Parts: sequence; C-alpha cells; structure tokens
Amino acid sequence: MGVLLALAVLIGLYAIVVWALPRRDPPLEWDWSRFDPEDLSFARLFGKDFLWGVASAAHQVEGGNTNNQWSRWETERGPDGRPRVRDGQRAGPACEHWERYREDIALMKALGLSSYRFSVEWSRVEPRPGEWDEAAIAHYHDLIDAVREAGLEPMLTLHHFTHPLWWEDRGGFEKEENLADLLRFTERMFREYGAKVRWWCTLNEPEVFASQGWFSGLFPPGKKDPQLTAVVLVNLLRAHGRMYRLIKSLPGGHDVEVGLVKDIFQFDADRRWHLLDAGIAEVLDRVMNEAILDALQTGHFSLHVPGMISLDAGVVEAAGSLDFVGLNYYSRYRVRFRASAAEPFVFQPVASEVQTDMPYPVYPEGVYRALIRLNRLKTPILITENGIADARDDRRDDWIRRYLYAVSRAIAEGVEVRGFYYWTLMDNFEWAEGWHMKFGLYALDQRTQERRLRDGSKIYAEIIAESRRG
Ligand code: BGC
Repeated sequence: MGVLLALAVLIGLYAIVVWALPRRDPPLEWDWSRFDPEDLSFARLFGKDFLWGVASAAHQVEGGNTNNQWSRWETERGPDGRPRVRDGQRAGPACEHWERYREDIALMKALGLSSYRFSVEWSRVEPRPGEWDEAAIAHYHDLIDAVREAGLEPMLTLHHFTHPLWWEDRGGFEKEENLADLLRFTERMFREYGAKVRWWCTLNEPEVFASQGWFSGLFPPGKKDPQLTAVVLVNLLRAHGRMYRLIKSLPGGHDVEVGLVKDIFQFDADRRWHLLDAGIAEVLDRVMNEAILDALQTGHFSLHVPGMISLDAGVVEAAGSLDFVGLNYYSRYRVRFRASAAEPFVFQPVASEVQTDMPYPVYPEGVYRALIRLNRLKTPILITENGIADARDDRRDDWIRRYLYAVSRAIAEGVEVRGFYYWTLMDNFEWAEGWHMKFGLYALDQRTQERRLRDGSKIYAEIIAESRRG
C-alpha cells in the first residue's frame, strides 16, 4: 500500500513538473495559412518615427583588420588540427567597407532606411595601450558625418565581439581589472562622437560572446570552461554598467540613449512531456537569458548548474543601466535529451519547420515572444538585429514579412518598439562560419566587390514605405 501511495505521489509530482515547466514561456505557434502576405497594412503600426535600419560590425565588413583577436584566431587551428573558421576562411579585405562606406550608405538610402548601426574597431583606434590612432578616429568621424548627411541616424556599438590583441593577451574580459582599458576607450569614443551620435550600444550579445568563447570554444579564446564562462559574463555585465555610467557622467551624456544589445534565442523542449528535455531547456534559458535579465533588474548575478557553474556576484552597476535595450532575435532551438555523457542534448530540427542556412528554423512567433519577455525591463526596445542566412534567396521575402508582422503584433499589444535593424546590408564575414552564410540584403561578389540587391530583400523597402503612409 505504502509503495503504491509513494508511486502515486511520484507520478503526481512528475505530472505537475511536466505541466508547469514548459508553461513558463509556452512555445507559441501561429496559423500562417490565415496570413495574407499581400496585406501590408500591419506596417502602419510602426509609425512615422520608427527607425528602420541595417546593422553591421566592423570586423565583418571593414576589411584590413589585423590587430584584433579574431584576425589571429582566423590563422589558427584547433586541437583537432582543423582551422578555427570553416574551410580556413578569413575576414581579409571583407566588404572593403572601410573604403566603400559612402557607396554602402547610398545603398541604405536607396532602400529608404533611416538609421545605420555599425561598430567602431577598438584595435584600430587604440592599436597599442594608451596610443591613439588619429587617422582611425578621423575615419569614424567621416563615416558618422556621411551617415548623418544622408539623413540617417547613426547607432554606434562600442564592442562587437572584437578587441585589440594587446587586450586579449592581458586576459580581456576574464579579468575585472582590465575593464579600466575598455572604459578609457569608451571615454575617448564618447568625447569624439557623443555630440553626433544619439544611439550608443555598449556591448553586443554578452551571452553569445561568453558562451562561444569560453563554453563551446567556437570563438576566441577557444576555451571550454563553464565556470570561467560565468566569470566572463559577470565582467561583461559590469563592463556594460560602468560604460553606461561613465557616458552619463560625461558632458552630453544625458542627451544620448545608451543600451545593451541582448540576444534572445528561445530554448523549447522538443518533447513537452519529457522532463529532461524540459529541464535542459530550462537550464540553457537560465544561462543564456534569465540570469542576465535578472542581473539587469536586480544588480545581482546568480548562476548555478550542478557540477558545472556556481557563481553569485554583485553587479550593482548593471542595475538601472538601460535607456533602451537592443534585441537581437533570430530563432529558437528545440532541445532534446540524449543518453550520452559526451553529448547530453542536441538541438533537434523539425521536419515541418522551414530551416535557414544556419542550423535553426524560421520562427517569427519567437520575436513576438522575445519582445513580450523583454518588456519586463520597462525600457524602450530597438530590434538591433534580425535577418536570415539564405543563399538561395527563397525564404528571405517570407522571413521579412512574417517577422515584421510579428513585431507589429507586439506593438499592437503595447510594447514600445522604436526601431528595427536588418542583419545585414551585404553578405559579410560570419565569424566561425566564414563566408558561407549569406545574410545580406545585397549579395556580395567578393572578387569584384559588387553589391547586388536580392529579390527577396525588396519587400523590406516596401514595408518601410508602407509604414510611412500610415
Ligand atoms: C551577431 C552578428 C552575426 C549575426 C548572424 C549575431 O549573433 O551579432 O555579428 O553576424 O548574429 O549570425
């Protein structure tokens, strides 16, 4: 009898957990057969002042960057003897955006854009500790001036995955004392460009940067150390908070908007009834999203994954440090447990879902979910990146229509979304994937540097034009 009762209680508990876990952020699926792709009236919800842009990052587009940690990484091989970047590819001359930025700004204008998000390359501006390259500083003045002269609003990212080799060799974000260097760079950049640039992003995707660099080892420094990943995350949060406060303390600091760019990728249980799928999805979400959102709200970072990570740390400077939050949204993963110590879970593709060229599906509902979730920070949101890798260009048009429709639904429900930046203007160097991923609105011919507008991109300009009619 006792055994039966215990069993009944256990089954009951299991049922409650299985019911409760996936409910925290229930996977949403809309019936797209009822969506009329020709009806663009949703675009009116964006309003006339909405910022429409494209986003880029210095190392991915500029070309000629040889003094940052990625340029060294691209020449190296991993412990398995294979090149760090797919097929041993390198950023090299990239899109020659350093020279061709005026041409690229004209392409943005042609699409009807009103803003451009780019990053400054710290390794160019401060090639050696405390030594400033005035020509590089002047270059970014010219870029910003050209953006403004074209009637576009510049948005500047201070750290988008790259930094000088000398800083990497000091330990970069692994050491809290190194943040002083990043702050010195931030101060110089703000004193230079503060009067011309209203939108400032401190760091791009702290959790992607930390997890790729210190957990999966796919980005430099290529470590696989979960506890150190958490330490780096804490230092990134501190860095953001201190950069925010530093800018605010400088002349003009209160005339600009400063925010952090947070990527949200959902982790959904592949089998909703499966306790381990749900549990692992929950842990991944805690590591990549929840721990950071909590820290931004409370000033306290707490992350515990049995046998892997145990860290509690004060990050008081990060609390209340957002004039806006940048959301980078691409897709979600379906998490499936595997009975294997080497690979305890996989991201399971689903046959019914359209896949992008990256290993994740088209999932427009996810941007709506992410917006509703981020709304708890009670600060305006700008979608600082969203776009599809689609070499065949047979999914881009649908992606843009549906993701933007999903954004409009969040706006209709009261979420304050102020802008949207497509990733990216033209095909560029996609980090560990090299040149294989074609995210560009414009296809890039690497040999001739010709940029050609893809058919699937044209809808972006149409939706923008429609939004202005409203
Ligand atoms: C990064 C970009 C990257 C894009 C597409 C984001 O994680 O900020 O630099 O190219 O995703 O994968």
